[in-house]
Amino acid sequence: MNDIESGPTPALEDASHARRHFLKFLSGSPLLMGSSASGLMAALAAALPGEVAAQSYDVLRAQAPKVGEIIEAPEHALNVMDFEPAAKKALAAAPAHWGYMATGVDDDSTLRANHEDFEKIRIKVRRLIDARNIDTRVQLFGTEYASPIFLSPVSSQRAFHPEAELAVARAAGAKKQLMVLSTSSNSAPADVARAHGMPIWFQLYPTDDWNVTQALIRRAEEAGAKAIVLTVDRQGGRNTETLFRARRVDTRQCMGCHTAGFSNEVARKPVFERLDVSHVTNLYGTGMTWEFVAKLRAATKAKVVLKGIMTRDDAVRALSAGVDGIIVSNHGGRAEASGQSTIGALPEVVAGARGKIPVLIDGGVRRGTDVFKALALGATAVGIGRPYCWGLAAFGQPGVATVLDILQREFETILRQAGATSLQQINPAMVAA
Ligand SMILES: Cc1cc2nc3c(=O)[nH]c(=O)nc-3n(C[C@H](O)[C@H](O)[C@H](O)COP(=O)(O)O)c2cc1C
Repeated sequence: MNDIESGPTPALEDASHARRHFLKFLSGSPLLMGSSASGLMAALAAALPGEVAAQSYDVLRAQAPKVGEIIEAPEHALNVMDFEPAAKKALAAAPAHWGYMATGVDDDSTLRANHEDFEKIRIKVRRLIDARNIDTRVQLFGTEYASPIFLSPVSSQRAFHPEAELAVARAAGAKKQLMVLSTSSNSAPADVARAHGMPIWFQLYPTDDWNVTQALIRRAEEAGAKAIVLTVDRQGGRNTETLFRARRVDTRQCMGCHTAGFSNEVARKPVFERLDVSHVTNLYGTGMTWEFVAKLRAATKAKVVLKGIMTRDDAVRALSAGVDGIIVSNHGGRAEASGQSTIGALPEVVAGARGKIPVLIDGGVRRGTDVFKALALGATAVGIGRPYCWGLAAFGQPGVATVLDILQREFETILRQAGATSLQQINPAMVAA
């Protein structure tokens, strides 16, 4: 290991030599002509570490001040994982909130499987295909989005940043990416839709009071939500050990913000405003069956999407129940400790849906290559949860925007390597297990 304190090593001297050359080259570059050139040069000189600048698209990207440090600005991030420690640091005074974001269930094995199973899939690269123009647009229920990467519903985002869902909506809307808003949000659907600027989808927790549920559906419709996304993977309680451990070291008084009693806690969320929630004892629909899906289908003109389908049989059932779409999901490994990853379940769900309805997926997506793999295995769009929350917690809207930028850039990079210039060209033969 280099001991930086004891002076530059030969490798570091080489690096600073190369850096001087690079800066000299830049100073003569027509790219930097004009009044802002000296400012940009100064910024670059300050930003570049004592390392050889990479010969790739990240040449001009500012690096973190020292390798291994927690990033201090979104533009320091090299990948979306760089935001995770930054988010943890930003939430250092609120460890329970960090634990809430991070947790899976039991020993977090499903959470880990979600990402690890992406790594078991290989991508076949193709050569000599003109890949200068890449088109990542996707149509979902008649609306065109700029990218197949969407933002999965995450509850209570004010626990991560004061601007909560509105910051996320602005970042996603600016990039024309789909946002799915959680029932348990700290911002009202109409406000989020306005901040986004395109139709959002509304994630529905069914509650055990149909009057309340109907009111939620109406509010989502009034906000212009294109789809009602019914989450079906929260069957009763869950053992969120990572959260419980984090709570033990949180010295704040939870009841300073949270309220006792389930219905009171539900009532704090804007979408429940002025509704009588006194009969709501269960938000998640523990007793919910396919009959509820039929009831929901009949209760709205919006598209109905089931989130949490993990098997072929349930996909077949969903199709015959008349739903319009499926999201393969295990709640980011925070619903059950099955150990079954979503990417592992995707092919059988796609088979069950028989191309009749779009199949989306989320869980463990951390790289543009993960997005590609999911699309190759039949997904229409690919969701992220924690990564954009890391960006939100660490840096607010610019953090979310940079997370989306990084994933999109990585995705476009692998599209070029796979020789696919549009989503329609991606197919299962492009990946191998
Ligand atoms: C803190 C947190 C809160 C979540 N809240 C909801 C929710 O309210 N409704 C829902 O359907 N899914 C919820 N999810 C699950 C996400 O929609 C998504 O399925 C999951 O985060 C994807 O996995 P990833 O975090 O590995 O990207 C939540 C996830 C997290 C991390």
